[in-house]
Amino acid sequence: MTRSIILIGPMGSGKSTIGRLLAARLRLPYVDSDALIVSHTGVGIPTIFEIEGESGFRERERKIIADLSTRSEPIVLATGGGAILDPANRHHLRRMGRVIYLDVSVDEQLKRIRHDRNRPLLQNTDLNTRLQTLAGQRNALYQETAHWRVLGDGLRSDQVLRRILRHLQQRAGQIPTRG
Ligand code: S3P
Repeated sequence: MTRSIILIGPMGSGKSTIGRLLAARLRLPYVDSDALIVSHTGVGIPTIFEIEGESGFRERERKIIADLSTRSEPIVLATGGGAILDPANRHHLRRMGRVIYLDVSVDEQLKRIRHDRNRPLLQNTDLNTRLQTLAGQRNALYQETAHWRVLGDGLRSDQVLRRILRHLQQRAGQIPTRG
């Protein structure tokens, strides 16, 4: 049984930054599902949304996650904020290992991603309203998919990392090791 660590949570919650740090600490390969989609298509996420719409992007995301779920080696996986929308993704992610929900408030998201230009869902819109709407649609799904939740408001990445490591240590036997 694969025991990967999977990070879920909204945009700007720190999944990629913390995923990279966590992978280095646990000496596991780091995988970012958005980065895989970009490297497979050869274009950025805004271009995928522009040409194929959100549904085309979700289809690509679904394929990548299904593919990752068949791999046998443990990894640290950072997912896109909307990955939990799909029931099959939620099922795969939970089966892959320990799912950790990086929870941040909309206020914290606003501080972190106010000037972002690479997230199509946040362009040409009232950011606060959009983030509130997404949170309303998704927070219960993050909660339902996760085995554990960590609150990131006001914390630096290294502080969140320490909390995650402590949590994993408390669950001895859940820390994946190579070989
Ligand atoms: C999305 C989040 C993004 C990316 C895409 C859609 C979302 O990933 O997958 O822009 O629906 O929340 P991050 O959560 O890494 O920003």
